[in-house]
Amino acid sequence: MYEICPETPADEPEVEALYDLCFAPGRTALSSYRLRDGVPKVADLCLVLRADGILLAAIRFWPVRVADQPVLLLGPIAVHPTAQGEGLGGLLMRDSLARARTLGWARVLLVGDAPYYSRFGFARLDDVIMPPPTNPDRVLGLELRPGAWVDVAGPVTRETMPDANRISRSTNALPPCVTVGHPQEDTDAHQSATGASADQ
Ligand SMILES: CC(C)(COP(=O)(O)OP(=O)(O)OC[C@H]1O[C@@H](n2cnc3c(N)ncnc32)[C@H](O)[C@@H]1OP(=O)(O)O)[C@@H](O)C(=O)NCCC(=O)NCCS
Repeated sequence: MYEICPETPADEPEVEALYDLCFAPGRTALSSYRLRDGVPKVADLCLVLRADGILLAAIRFWPVRVADQPVLLLGPIAVHPTAQGEGLGGLLMRDSLARARTLGWARVLLVGDAPYYSRFGFARLDDVIMPPPTNPDRVLGLELRPGAWVDVAGPVTRETMPDANRISRSTNALPPCVTVGHPQEDTDAHQSATGASADQ
């Protein structure tokens, strides 16, 4: 069994170590990190996945803006190398996106491999521009609300409003932690536990 919980300050050193393990050295030099510097994470959506207390995967989100509209920037997401390919990344993707929808977020952005993220509904955003140098083919978006990316185009900018996460703080509708079975053994149980919808 796995437990998925919101990340707490106590988790942070382990999560940073997992990201250091899974990504190339200098990951924080990427231009996407300039959108995160000094901006609080979207705390309700930053999740850790543990088995028997051992951290196996983590996902984080930050608020950004495109055309002055609020957007969720997904990432980083990482699964420990010993547990990759077992569906844990998919668990975190589906659970966090279901939480985001519950919280009222309309649109999500990420920089990543389309062959992986397309299975969650992400597609290339032709007119959304990440800070250079970013390969435009890797700028992907997902609508949590139908039409949410229509006419939302231009450069991605930092969130500058201090209360930008207010929709995350204004609800207690989310379960703090959920226990789920192995994704490749019991898909129905997972969906029941997380409330993830089948159309993601
Ligand atoms: C990418 C990552 C989060 C996926 O999590 P995971 O638990 O290993 O993946 P899942 O078990 O949910 O899904 C496995 C499937 O995704 C595919 N996949 C994994 N990474 C992929 C990638 N970068 N591009 C295309 N497909 C990928 C696998 O081939 C497998 O395909 P299949 O279902 O057809 O067999 C994880 O492998 C990881 O942490 N990698 C290193 C860090 C990283 O690259 N993070 C993403 C930054 S964009």
